[in-house]
Amino acid sequence: MKIIGVVGSGAMGSGIAQVAAMAGHKVVLSDESDIALGKAKTNLANTLQKLQEKGKIASAHDILSRIAFSDDPDSMKDCGLVIEAIIEKLEAKQNLFKTLEQIVSHDCIMASNTSSLSITSIAAACKNPSRVIGLHFFNPAPLMALVEIIPAIQTDLDLLPEAKELMKQWGKIPVVAKDTPGFIVNRVARPFYGEAIRIYEEGIADMATIDWAMTEIGGFRMGPFALTDYIGHDVNYVVTETVFQSFFYDPRYKPSFSQKRLLEAGWLGRKTGKGFYNYAEGAAMPEPTKDMVLGTEIYERILAMLINEAVDALYLKVSSPADLETAMTKGVNYPKGLLQWCDEWGADKCVEKLDKMYHEYHEDRYRVSPLLRKQALGNKKFD
Ligand SMILES: NC(=O)c1ccc[n+]([C@@H]2O[C@H](COP(=O)([O-])OP(=O)(O)OC[C@H]3O[C@@H](n4cnc5c(N)ncnc54)[C@H](O)[C@@H]3O)[C@@H](O)[C@H]2O)c1
Repeated sequence: MKIIGVVGSGAMGSGIAQVAAMAGHKVVLSDESDIALGKAKTNLANTLQKLQEKGKIASAHDILSRIAFSDDPDSMKDCGLVIEAIIEKLEAKQNLFKTLEQIVSHDCIMASNTSSLSITSIAAACKNPSRVIGLHFFNPAPLMALVEIIPAIQTDLDLLPEAKELMKQWGKIPVVAKDTPGFIVNRVARPFYGEAIRIYEEGIADMATIDWAMTEIGGFRMGPFALTDYIGHDVNYVVTETVFQSFFYDPRYKPSFSQKRLLEAGWLGRKTGKGFYNYAEGAAMPEPTKDMVLGTEIYERILAMLINEAVDALYLKVSSPADLETAMTKGVNYPKGLLQWCDEWGADKCVEKLDKMYHEYHEDRYRVSPLLRKQALGNKKFD
């Protein structure tokens, strides 16, 4: 079995190291910070101990003993695959990849777990960019089954089957995405947050009512305001802003002032006790207005935007239809795939809804994907 190197021992790196070690690999987990490494070691030991107590693993000690901790990049030299999970800064990642390629053997695969940078731009730092690939795990990596595999334009495509197979061996569900901003999940999910905030900003409904509509009528596990408070606005807002900028300021991905102000105030959500909602002890949660007509209007508006985004991603060959469905159901736990949802609801209804908004607002944000319009005109289904 390959030795797996993981660089960056924060939330993602230590989770990925755990997954690889639990799959039986020897792992080298490295970080420039000894404090971060110490924390990762303690956290991993605690997590594995709990898993052992619950009977999910036979021996926490055996798994932990497969993980070596090091602050020296040279520790990567015997690895067959190195996964980078350091800070989300292009220059730092490029410097690391340049250093790594001088340390590892010529057939070592070098992967990045970046959420928002292009794999192509990271690969470009290397003398041999053909062995660089994106392996995008979701947080927390040991619990989330989805992994997006992203070949850069320079990547040797023979690596794809090998990467897919390895992720399956690790108990993950791999999907392949084109190297475009947000890959699949962080692109297609944008309207879930963005359109909800827009509805709120326009004063059509309050946050509690929008959350109620999406959970009770839409069947989503959490509403957009509760979910972004949970994710943290430092993470969710920054992804939105990065996707918006990376799409050359396409208005479909435009961030909102409501969320930006939360970030500026340091109201990052649950972790700071305040975000869209107030989580202070004794604070009352606002009650939704359970009006089915209003609720259905909200749900259908957000759903139409989500379906349009998914269909447009398919139209632009970001991924296969099957991978799109898997990504949204396994990566963000949507109750069903958006293409299936489109088939069930009707592409014509979705187009009608979007066209109505396009005519009302005269904003490019509401433009219908050419593929969605084609589906509606031809009365076609994706399935
Ligand atoms: N947190 C998420 O929800 C999430 C999800 C998917 C992907 N990602 C991506 O994973 C990566 C890591 O995210 P995270 O949340 O684990 O970050 P984190 O801040 O928890 O951890 C990053 C670690 O990298 C270390 N580090 C920084 N520069 C380094 C360098 N040059 N060499 C070695 N170590 C270095 C830091 O000391 C830190 O321990 C980022 O690219 C992020 O975009 C994050």
